[in-house]
Amino acid sequence: MQNKLSSSLGPSAAPLIASSLSGPPVRELHGGHRAAILKHFLRLNAEDRRLRFGVPTADAVIRQYVKKLDFNQDAVFGIFDLNLALVAIAHLAYLPADKKRSRATEFGVSVLPKSRYKGFGSALLERAMVHARNTGVITLFVHCLAQNKVMMHLAKKSGMQIDYAFGEADACLKLPPANPSTILAEAVNVQLADFDFAIKSNLNQSNKTIRWLLKKNKPQ
Ligand SMILES: CC(C)(COP(=O)(O)OP(=O)(O)OC[C@H]1O[C@@H](n2cnc3c(N)ncnc32)[C@H](O)[C@@H]1OP(=O)(O)O)[C@@H](O)C(=O)NCCC(=O)NCCS
Repeated sequence: MQNKLSSSLGPSAAPLIASSLSGPPVRELHGGHRAAILKHFLRLNAEDRRLRFGVPTADAVIRQYVKKLDFNQDAVFGIFDLNLALVAIAHLAYLPADKKRSRATEFGVSVLPKSRYKGFGSALLERAMVHARNTGVITLFVHCLAQNKVMMHLAKKSGMQIDYAFGEADACLKLPPANPSTILAEAVNVQLADFDFAIKSNLNQSNKTIRWLLKKNKPQ
């Protein structure tokens, strides 16, 4: 049964699904997450904002960017920590037609400093690539500053071709079409991320209740 299933999914099924199972759970975000998304970006320091958006970015610009995020047109992914704070966010912007017809997307990502070098950036890129394939995207772009060694490393690791010009770098990846493996990998990821979020929410609620009980029963 297992053999039949894996052969019908094709040779790329196993690594895609294995990375869904072993990597951090990545959740697709929606309008209800806007406040948490804003909080994430406002926590980035000046240098990280410059690397993420390509130019120095003030709080007011970030507020506008988050306000204008269109979750129907684009896809936004996030990774939550145990306190349900968004420690990593990726924005997959569909260019320039609507999501159903667009054949190209641009990927932007940020991970809070304390959560870096744990594979979160790679997991978001991988999740975005699978989602892009499943929505008919052919080309994925990453535009960033050429000095951004870590992002360049992630792009190269994913097989992207990189063109450098005037201190900037354009990474580009031609995506193969979706197949049963990519559909299944995304479905598995959605389930795992929902499960992970439910567990973290419950833990959070239990912690709050325990703290409240301890405070209430504290001897005066
Ligand atoms: C770029 C960024 C998203 C990476 O996030 P991350 O969660 O730390 O990424 P990962 O842990 O998945 O991977 C980091 C990789 O960089 C490598 N790396 C670390 N320092 C490096 C350096 N100086 N040069 C090259 N590669 C480096 C690590 O070895 C790791 O690679 P590996 O998985 O092959 O071992 C994060 O640094 C960030 O938010 N930076 C600020 C915003 C930004 O630059 N965004 C990108 C522009 S769109």
